[in-house]
Amino acid sequence: MSKQLLSPLPLLLIFLCCPTVFAQSPAQAPVAQPPPQAPIAQPPGQAPLAQTLVPAPVKPSGPTNITAILEKAGHFVTLIRLLKSTQLDTEIYKKLNNSKQSLTVFAPTDNAFGNLKTGALNSYNDQQKFQLVKFHFISSFLSVPAFQTVSNPVSTEAGSNALYPLNITTVGSQVNISTGIVNTTISATIYSDNQLAVYQVDQVLLPLSFFVTPSPSPAPAPSKPEKEAAAPSGSESVPTTDDAAVKASGAMRMIHHPLNAMSITGFLFAALSMCLS
Ligand SMILES: *[C@@H]1O[C@H](CO)[C@@H](O)[C@H](O)[C@H]1NC(C)=O
Ligand SMILES: *[C@@H]1O[C@H](CO)[C@@H](O)[C@H](O)[C@H]1NC(C)=O
Ligand SMILES: *[C@@H]1O[C@H](CO)[C@@H](O)[C@H](O)[C@H]1NC(C)=O
Ligand SMILES: *[C@@H]1O[C@H](CO)[C@@H](O)[C@H](O)[C@H]1NC(C)=O
Ligand SMILES: *[C@@H]1O[C@H](CO)[C@@H](O)[C@H](O)[C@H]1NC(C)=O
Repeated sequence: MSKQLLSPLPLLLIFLCCPTVFAQSPAQAPVAQPPPQAPIAQPPGQAPLAQTLVPAPVKPSGPTNITAILEKAGHFVTLIRLLKSTQLDTEIYKKLNNSKQSLTVFAPTDNAFGNLKTGALNSYNDQQKFQLVKFHFISSFLSVPAFQTVSNPVSTEAGSNALYPLNITTVGSQVNISTGIVNTTISATIYSDNQLAVYQVDQVLLPLSFFVTPSPSPAPAPSKPEKEAAAPSGSESVPTTDDAAVKASGAMRMIHHPLNAMSITGFLFAALSMCLS
């Protein structure tokens, strides 16, 4: 009799023990584990730059809007797309909001981008596109006469002169630009005040670094043809891809949950074997 009474006891203990372990483990594991990840997902105020801009007050009297200037000019669709996908449009807008800052922009036309080797623009990764656009920016206001007195090589926002040389020479009012890869001339003044100057160029200013870097990938000319063959006209739909890529890279960080699931499962197995032993 006593043996029959005793034998259900271990079973009862297991049920009393394990449910509590089971009830606690899922409740505690998530609390202990995710904190390092939760902060990444939580503060949307800092992470996505694009979203911080959206609620910003849209005053007509605000900083100069370079996108609006280029849109009005009409033949800078590809450049506008690049400014948006790199979020440099936002950066310029903020920069020009500070009256002490100024900027000179060389704006390649849609034809200029169309004259790149087929697929070249698509073959550049996000960082290269960012650098390519930055290479067209000089962090000061340069009027046409001011180009006569610049000292070469000129510093662009793409950084080091050794990797991104840009020379400007003038004959009268003609302004020549050379990157070591591309020679071109300013063909029009799109906009100019005392803070921002936007000059049209009919070739994309390709930086030397895209062609001389020892790494295997930077300037893959004929590798990915087809895609952007008819880019300039049909490019309206492309920004979504760029935006999606930017968002996707941000979203990658949040896909670590399988690890948590595994550690919980492992914990359950450990708890179960402890209870059974
Ligand atoms: C700048 O102008 C473009 C085109 O008009 C507009 O879509 C964009 O919202 C403007 N940006 C800001 C910050 O006002
Ligand atoms: C412009 O700068 C002022 C302060 O200098 C700031 O209050 C304002 O929010 C800024 N506007 C934009 C659109 O960045
Ligand atoms: C500017 O470029 C033109 C051809 O594009 C060339 O004939 C002229 O010599 C160049 N001038 C300077 C100062 O480099
Ligand atoms: C730019 O000018 C500097 C100094 O005159 C010269 O050494 C260099 O070779 C030039 N680079 C290009 C790309 O024209
Ligand atoms: C650019 O012009 C310079 C002289 O001003 C010349 O030496 C060089 O070959 C030209 N480069 C290209 C790519 O046309």
